[in-house]
Amino acid sequence: MDLINRPRRLRRTDGIRRLNRETRLSPEALIYPIFVDETLSGTRPIESLPGQYHYGLDSVCRAVEECRAHGVKHCILFGLPAEKDSCGSSAWAERGVIQEAVRTVKASDPDFTVITDVCMCEYTNHGHCGILRGQEVDNDETLKHLAKIAVSHAQAGADMVAPSDMMDGHTAVLRRALDEAGFQQTAIMAYSAKYASAFYGPFRAAAGSAPSFGDRKGYQMDPHNRKEALRECALDEAEGADILMVKPALSYLDVIRECADTFTLPLCAYSVSGEYAMIKAAAAAGLVDERRIMCETAVSIFRAGADMLITYYAREIADAIRTGEIG
Ligand code: PBG
Repeated sequence: MDLINRPRRLRRTDGIRRLNRETRLSPEALIYPIFVDETLSGTRPIESLPGQYHYGLDSVCRAVEECRAHGVKHCILFGLPAEKDSCGSSAWAERGVIQEAVRTVKASDPDFTVITDVCMCEYTNHGHCGILRGQEVDNDETLKHLAKIAVSHAQAGADMVAPSDMMDGHTAVLRRALDEAGFQQTAIMAYSAKYASAFYGPFRAAAGSAPSFGDRKGYQMDPHNRKEALRECALDEAEGADILMVKPALSYLDVIRECADTFTLPLCAYSVSGEYAMIKAAAAAGLVDERRIMCETAVSIFRAGADMLITYYAREIADAIRTGEIG
């Protein structure tokens, strides 16, 4: 055999393998979703997401402490309000569930990053992500309300707002509203490429946010489209987003790669509820090794080009990085 042309596979010692890794993971790049229920005191397990909990306002700090114990330093908050109406008014209430949760978390630990989901589906009695005109969501009317929601989150102390509504022009409207209200420092993580996905099922069960009629295909993206994701990202970049997002993650690794290669803004991937629930279910049935599947999927998302990851496994992935299973 010609020794000079022998292919190198770099399968050597563990140390050399680690040194040669092309993808590096860090607990700093993990964001943990926290569900806060205004009507709850204490915690309640979420049936559709085994291992996850709803937190009452009196116990949201417990979720933060658990994150910190695992080395996770960033969260994204989702709210379950006590009251819903047709225009989702509890979403921008000064003493609304998210506004209170942000104040509570920030008072307990100012250095813990708090991102807030800006959307209306958890707050409207019809479950759509905006204001309805007839059976359709009225894009421009919804934008006015989203701006109020974002400003109220910033007022409560959120570090970053994450509009997940998918209305056209939302990033520009939020940026202007935040700036005018004096929140130039509040960042925007735009859910740029958010697909109309069946993977959101367990989240909607957990957040009580399933649409009462129709679906979200009018405002979320068609899974057949890749170039459209690039157009959405380009718009969000031009409108002033600080971070772009692709969601879900696993079925859209090609989109993550393409967005990472095309844009210079940091890119977040959201490994959504269905991705987590599928691993949990397969593991509970004894079909897969949960820990290794969790690790491998997390690595694949970062390898595809994500700079950060929202995941219900954030705490366990941080542990796996620390033990050296990945990273
Ligand atoms: C709100 C929102 C959804 C998710 C995040 N923000 C649900 C949806 O669009 O129906 C899904 C997250 C997940 O599945 O983990 N619009």
